[in-house]
Amino acid sequence: MATLILNASEVLTMAGPDGPRSGPAKGGLGLLRDGAVLIDKDQIVAAGPKPVVLAHPAAKGAKILSAEGKVLMPGFVDAHTHPVFAAARLDDFEARVSGKSYAEIARRGGGILSTVNGVRGSKEADLVAGLRLRAHDFIAAGTTTIEAKSGYGLDLDNELKLLRAMRAVSSRGPLEIVATFLGAHAVPPELKGKKDEFVDRVCEVMIPRVGQEKLAVFVDLFCEEGYFDLGDLDKVAAAGAKAGLKLKVHSEQLSRMGSLGASLRHGAVTADHLDCVTEDDLPALAASKTVACLVPGSNYFLGKPYPPARRLLDSGAAVALATDFNPGTCPCHDMRMIVSIACTQMKMTPAEALVSATINGAHALGLGATHGSLEPGKTADIACFDAEDHRELAYWFGAPKTRWVMKRGEVVYKAS
Ligand code: NIG
Ligand code: FE
Repeated sequence: MATLILNASEVLTMAGPDGPRSGPAKGGLGLLRDGAVLIDKDQIVAAGPKPVVLAHPAAKGAKILSAEGKVLMPGFVDAHTHPVFAAARLDDFEARVSGKSYAEIARRGGGILSTVNGVRGSKEADLVAGLRLRAHDFIAAGTTTIEAKSGYGLDLDNELKLLRAMRAVSSRGPLEIVATFLGAHAVPPELKGKKDEFVDRVCEVMIPRVGQEKLAVFVDLFCEEGYFDLGDLDKVAAAGAKAGLKLKVHSEQLSRMGSLGASLRHGAVTADHLDCVTEDDLPALAASKTVACLVPGSNYFLGKPYPPARRLLDSGAAVALATDFNPGTCPCHDMRMIVSIACTQMKMTPAEALVSATINGAHALGLGATHGSLEPGKTADIACFDAEDHRELAYWFGAPKTRWVMKRGEVVYKAS
């Protein structure tokens, strides 16, 4: 039986041109004040003004779901997370608020390698159990699809363990997880000082295996001083392409290395972070198909300057927003918090931020044709928030607002 969603104060369809939204389309919410959405099985069959949707043949006899005068919109698509890990990094947190830098903490045995120790000491079943709990948190915050990176294993077996944990959780639903292999996240302790040897292992052993087992859609690397360089980016991109993996890059985060230009040359689907981009970088990015995936929750948490979102948007680049959920630099899974930070700290409008967090997030995962908007033929991934006006989603920061969430046409979360 079909389901008809009525009575929303605002339906944000995010309907618009094909492709990532940029330029004049960057804040296009497709807002309807007397809107309705009709769902059949796991798909949206109509979304538009109520009289138009009611006239659809499938609307007859449909079950009614009331949006209770609230904001109805596509579930958030969070295109950058590192959600599979064993434990929080509270010592790192305390050291950083006491003045130690991310790099200093890493040198003293904290940072990524401390999470690697935790993952190496965990069974796959424990990682699955932890991820399942986090998956529930994402759903309860209105996020219906995430990208998830490995990168806390750093050897073949442990990286495969992380990717298999993601597959196990995604296959049981409701949270959909798109996997990224981030082998080149840090050099593991057993190869300290032997970065090139590690990159060879990543490219010659790990990437081909991940490709063969179809455990990931994307390959990524942390292109950063003290981690991996432009030569490594070329190698990882080439090995990824050979294995059928599309490219994402942690780019220009803590320093500007020129990795954005290299990412564009390799046709990366996204370049992520971009805190240190300069004016000179903007025209090539705007002219490319690469989406700038900004993760300002990590800037908030590290107390660092924000990426120049306004300059990126005004130059014509397509911008996605994501959490970067991870135990080191952003332990926040809530896309509403990220939307709020994007507005208050990066001066994005609420409309631009919501477009960036939904349809552009979908494009950042290569899922723009099926996810991220309420349009006929798309997957019925929908969130209903306790707000009458979409601007409230950024305004009432830090407080839960989710009423209910639908994934593939089924209500999978209801606020109590
Ligand atoms: O996106 N930059 C590298 N990776 C993560 C941090 C991972 C960690 O500190 O555990 C990031 O910020
Ligand atoms: Fe990240």
